[in-house]
Amino acid sequence: MLAIDFMPNLIAENERVNGHLRNARFAVGDATELELPAGSVDVLFSNWLLMYLGDAEVAGLASRALSWVVPGGVVFFRESCFRQSGDKQRAKNPTHYRDPREYFRLFDDARGLAADGTTPVRFELVTCRCVDTYVRLKQNQNQLCWKWRVVAAEGGGGGGGGGEDAAAAAAEGEGGAAAAPAPMLSSDSNGSSKSSTPAAAPATPSRRTPSAVSLLSSSSSCHGTPRHFLDAEQYSAHSIARYERVFGRGFVTSGGEASTRALLPMLSPALQHKGKREGGPSPSSSSPSSNSPPRVLDIGSGLGGAAAILAADYGCRVRGIDLSVNMVLSAMDRHNAAAAAEDGGAGARAAAALARFEVGDATRVELEESSFDAVHSRDTLLHIEDKALVLRKAFAALRPGGMVLLTDYLKAPPSEEGGEAPAAAPASASASASASASADAKAEPEDPTLEFSAYVSRRGYHLWDLPTYAAALSEAGFEDVVAEDRTGAFEVCLAAELERAAGDRDAFVRDFSEVDFEEVVGAWRAKLARVARGQQRWGLFVARKPLV
Ligand SMILES: C[S@@+](CC[C@H](N)C(=O)[O-])C[C@H]1O[C@@H](n2cnc3c(N)ncnc32)[C@H](O)[C@@H]1O
Repeated sequence: MLAIDFMPNLIAENERVNGHLRNARFAVGDATELELPAGSVDVLFSNWLLMYLGDAEVAGLASRALSWVVPGGVVFFRESCFRQSGDKQRAKNPTHYRDPREYFRLFDDARGLAADGTTPVRFELVTCRCVDTYVRLKQNQNQLCWKWRVVAAEGGGGGGGGGEDAAAAAAEGEGGAAAAPAPMLSSDSNGSSKSSTPAAAPATPSRRTPSAVSLLSSSSSCHGTPRHFLDAEQYSAHSIARYERVFGRGFVTSGGEASTRALLPMLSPALQHKGKREGGPSPSSSSPSSNSPPRVLDIGSGLGGAAAILAADYGCRVRGIDLSVNMVLSAMDRHNAAAAAEDGGAGARAAAALARFEVGDATRVELEESSFDAVHSRDTLLHIEDKALVLRKAFAALRPGGMVLLTDYLKAPPSEEGGEAPAAAPASASASASASASADAKAEPEDPTLEFSAYVSRRGYHLWDLPTYAAALSEAGFEDVVAEDRTGAFEVCLAAELERAAGDRDAFVRDFSEVDFEEVVGAWRAKLARVARGQQRWGLFVARKPLV
């Protein structure tokens, strides 16, 4: 353990208090000039440091850290973002209250060389989240922390095409033909390629040659990971605003708030054993005294609409995880606004204290075993190739008796490809009823099969059919698996959403543009056509983790 600060009195006090620790050493040093031996650090930790540095200083430190930290090692930092958190008036405040996107940019762009002096390395995001204490006690989502892992930079790095590894995507706009990154979110690696080399704390900081680092920093960029693809394409700020116009505020999912409110009661059995808030479902009388809120993991939490309902109406403590920085920052912003709203009252503040959001990949997120009462995920797994891994993670993270509720886009089972299943199936048809739906495949003149696969591919989607989903839930260990083809309800939602967008063309064009209007209306009509052909479907899945 090497503790460094540029204030001699602080280092002296630190050493006075902790100097008895045989594995700790203390040094006065300036982070902007610090040099450490390459490969000498496993974990680099800083708290409220980078916000006092300029951008160039942060970038320089990030590049140098890439050589200090062993591949597989981590860098953690926590900073005040957006604005001052406390209310103390300061005549002079040197703090940079950055938009968190600035820290993403600085660390995404950083390049360096590993200790061998030849292997290019970069940072791979593990997580970015709010500091819990601030959320709970102050309803403040402005204290953010990041954890990055050092990985090889060439070919995307990271071992096996994980969440941050992919080729760049072409930009062709929402509803258009943006090419998905490839490979997309396969995750055979958990990134734990931790070096066995122990971190040798330096006796004296040494200098290293910076030339190769600065060349690499300026010539390459890791923008092109699935996270960047989502933020630049489907979930750019502009696209999110358009989606919200169609789905309703806070939601980017079929049926928006109404479908969320209609489906959430299915999780009630898993949430009822704990306390209850006004407006939520009744708690069971067996344990009404428990004060601890039910814990829900929302995978692909988007703008936080479902988390807000779970917190406000069900009294749940919600952990929302989403790969899109735009989505997560919007969700944080909205919870901050709800907490601050004058008319929000104590209920809004309490709800804001119960939901927190983080940027992370569902295939890689670190989850404590048996730590959730329920897992909720709406229309998110369509982005993820290794859905089975996410289902296994959800299973492990649930307590015995905990429940999962998912909705997702589906494709037709092979026996029905090109058929007319959804129109024939009632909105809540069971898996078996769905399986028996019409298989009368009729080729459309414009080759709908190609159109569907082109849509799936440019979106970067990975769609399963309903029986595959149901089987994967069982294989993950779930019981009481309900798998319903809800394409009928999906179709109703699509029609209502199309009406919402197209019904007031002038207002849409005024708020966005002609092009936006045509793209959105075209995209929704195309979805309806795919549904009518039986290609694009929508499923609801509910299952329980066995008690023993
Ligand atoms: C269609 S939106 C649904 C958002 C939200 N569930 C809702 O109901 O409004 C899909 C969400 O999945 C997120 N996502 C995609 N891939 C992900 C991954 N690997 N891990 C976590 N979230 C992911 C996207 O960023 C996006 O917010």
